[in-house]
Amino acid sequence: MAKIFSGVQPTSIPTLGNYLGAMRNFATLQEGNECIYCIVDEHAITVPQDPKEVQANIHKLAALYLAMGIDPKQSILFIQSEVPCHAQLGWIMQCVSYMGELERMTQFKDKSTGKQAIPAGLLTYPPLMAADILLYQTNLVPVGADQKQHLELTRDLAERFNNKYGEVFTIPEPYIPPVGARIMSLAEPTKKMSKSDANRKATIFTLDSEKDIIKKIKSATTDDEASIRYDRENKPGISNLLDIFSLCSGRSVDELVAAYQGKGYGEFKTDVAEAVVGILKPIQEKFNNLIESSELDEVLDEGAEKAYAIAKRTLTNAEKALGIGRNNRH
Ligand code: TYM
Repeated sequence: MAKIFSGVQPTSIPTLGNYLGAMRNFATLQEGNECIYCIVDEHAITVPQDPKEVQANIHKLAALYLAMGIDPKQSILFIQSEVPCHAQLGWIMQCVSYMGELERMTQFKDKSTGKQAIPAGLLTYPPLMAADILLYQTNLVPVGADQKQHLELTRDLAERFNNKYGEVFTIPEPYIPPVGARIMSLAEPTKKMSKSDANRKATIFTLDSEKDIIKKIKSATTDDEASIRYDRENKPGISNLLDIFSLCSGRSVDELVAAYQGKGYGEFKTDVAEAVVGILKPIQEKFNNLIESSELDEVLDEGAEKAYAIAKRTLTNAEKALGIGRNNRH
């Protein structure tokens, strides 16, 4: 039985990329493992947010976690800011980190380039993410490919701490799916599909209407070769749609390429859209039933309590190892 931990930021509605790259694996990993899933609201405020929007997104994300198959009887679901150990161990992890390694993080570089005033939280985001993971003695972290570098840093920080202060943390491994780890923008398929893309046609959100999903996929950028084959380099648009189609239909990419030999992009896109709607519709129906129910608060209250009990143990061990606080109080 492995310990699994992962988190999603409540910065908007999760995208199809978030779902295919990470969230759908959260549910499948529940079988036979101990899973802890988090709404990482402290990570969300590393860039300015509208408080009302964050609040609404936290609520929606909780409902989506459940709608996507997280079973609160099996797994822990909680909000990061409701378990203060995250910020506390986050500080300790900052003290173990070097400026150089934080400045080298590609996400930091992407998000800070061209900004006049860079929030310090953007730089110290990865040590907080390391704390999230390490508090639960996590073995496996299901994430998309864009989080690989943060996972490597988490491993480095845990090893550095353990070597210096004694064995406190389990060294986690990333769990990156072979297909879907990097779902690309529909408008610019050489770029990652992102929540914050200014081009609304680039991104499918998991709560988009059927009409919008069809419209976005129909307008997806492809090429003028008129042949459906998988070639990430030369045909990034079609290859991305093949990945999405494969993940949403359960058919392999090879099988799809064979089935669409000689067929046009129009027919192909219609079928991709139908498969995406087929996956998202049941999630949206469950979401609609959950969003107004009192179940959400109960799940989150219980989740925070259970998460705290585990996290506090690790935090105490880390503080003891460092010699901070009074050892006899723990
Ligand atoms: P976030 O909220 O940006 O994304 C949530 C998850 O979705 C994955 N993802 C994608 N996968 C495939 N294709 C895409 N286009 C795509 N876009 C996003 C992300 O890799 C992620 O797994 N730093 C994290 C949140 C976090 C976290 C953690 C994750 C905080 N603490 C501890 C794991 C463990 C983030 O910004 O995810």
